[in-house]
Amino acid sequence: MKYLKLKLWVFLPSSPHHRHTEKTSAPTCSTWKDLNQNRPAPNSYELFAKGYEDYLQSPLQPLMDNLESQTYEVFEKDPIKYSQYQQAVYKCLLDRVPEEQKDTNVQVLMVLGAGRGPLVNASLRAARQADRKLKIYAVEKNPNAVITLENWRFEEWGDQVTVVSCDMREWSAPEKADIIVSELLGSFGDNELSPECLDGAQHFLKDGGVSIPCSYTSFLAPLSSSKLYNEVRGCRERDKDPECHFETPYVVRLHNFHQLAEPKPCFTFRHPTKDMNNNRYQCLRFSAGCNTVLHGFAGYFETTLYKDVTLSINPQTHSAGMFSWFPIFFPLKQPISVSRDEDIAVRFWRCNNGKKVWYEWAVTEPSCSAIHNPAGRSYTIGL
Ligand SMILES: C[S@@+](CC[C@H](N)C(=O)[O-])C[C@H]1O[C@@H](n2cnc3c(N)ncnc32)[C@H](O)[C@@H]1O
Repeated sequence: MKYLKLKLWVFLPSSPHHRHTEKTSAPTCSTWKDLNQNRPAPNSYELFAKGYEDYLQSPLQPLMDNLESQTYEVFEKDPIKYSQYQQAVYKCLLDRVPEEQKDTNVQVLMVLGAGRGPLVNASLRAARQADRKLKIYAVEKNPNAVITLENWRFEEWGDQVTVVSCDMREWSAPEKADIIVSELLGSFGDNELSPECLDGAQHFLKDGGVSIPCSYTSFLAPLSSSKLYNEVRGCRERDKDPECHFETPYVVRLHNFHQLAEPKPCFTFRHPTKDMNNNRYQCLRFSAGCNTVLHGFAGYFETTLYKDVTLSINPQTHSAGMFSWFPIFFPLKQPISVSRDEDIAVRFWRCNNGKKVWYEWAVTEPSCSAIHNPAGRSYTIGL
């Protein structure tokens, strides 16, 4: 089934004693045909991802750049993400407002990075579901998205929602929030600078207030994929240092690859927090268990929105049907040979100079790679 997905030519021996590929026996061929015909229909994620297989994309930078309307439109089609946010706000409202206060206790909820408004709508649905009262602020720094938010307010929301056009880190809020709701997460969790944005906003969260999400963790797994290695090599531009493409992560629907070990947690962030140092260092070890070639690392994330309400793109815990995020790929300049009894050790750093954030990475076992992206020379994320 795995090979069929990759559209590979497969040669099957007709029996353990007979390994001549051209003489594949009829029963084996028919088994193969049966397998092909009985393949399960693609799920919603596979349908969405069709055509993006192994296609390298630069990670979005929604803080530094303003997202296009079409990009928001794609996010908004996700069938899982917003229902999970609704569930998180619903549970949080029930916890914060006892039944006897439901008509008098108005919770102040701020959607930070509201985009075109889907999290405002999810919060309003949650309030109706919980039969609790909400006053909402929708804060957004992209002026184009703010126009859509203003339209929503005029047409649907009314005075229950106040639209605020500014960067959350610079906003002087007129009052403090009971709940802040945001979705500033990239494929590697913190790579769209959610930690820095929420740290800059948490001073207007009440003591005892709740952040949805309350935490997120990135994950890494070693990969063998000559396909992805060659795709990165093909990104070379004449006027650029040819190595810089290997010092950049890519968002990609991983397809033609072999994951050498299960993903392991890398960096965790929690909100609200007293620790504003968002630099991180992590060393992870994996056993490959086979003779192989290491080409880089797949990155994923898991987030806890509220209590048991989560979102995940880690293959072990993936939220079924959610397609808002593809994995991220951190390549290596030089492929590294690994024997089955050797460990892979990789070191990852998250660095910050006050203006930019970047990752550096290096393999230290079974042999050493260069440090990739030192001082953010090839890839940074603007603050
Ligand atoms: C990933 S999008 C999510 C949008 C929307 N909440 C949704 O789920 O479709 C993140 C949004 O946060 C906004 N944003 C990012 N950093 C921000 C900041 N510091 N202040 C205000 N808005 C910000 C971006 O412009 C973008 O609209």
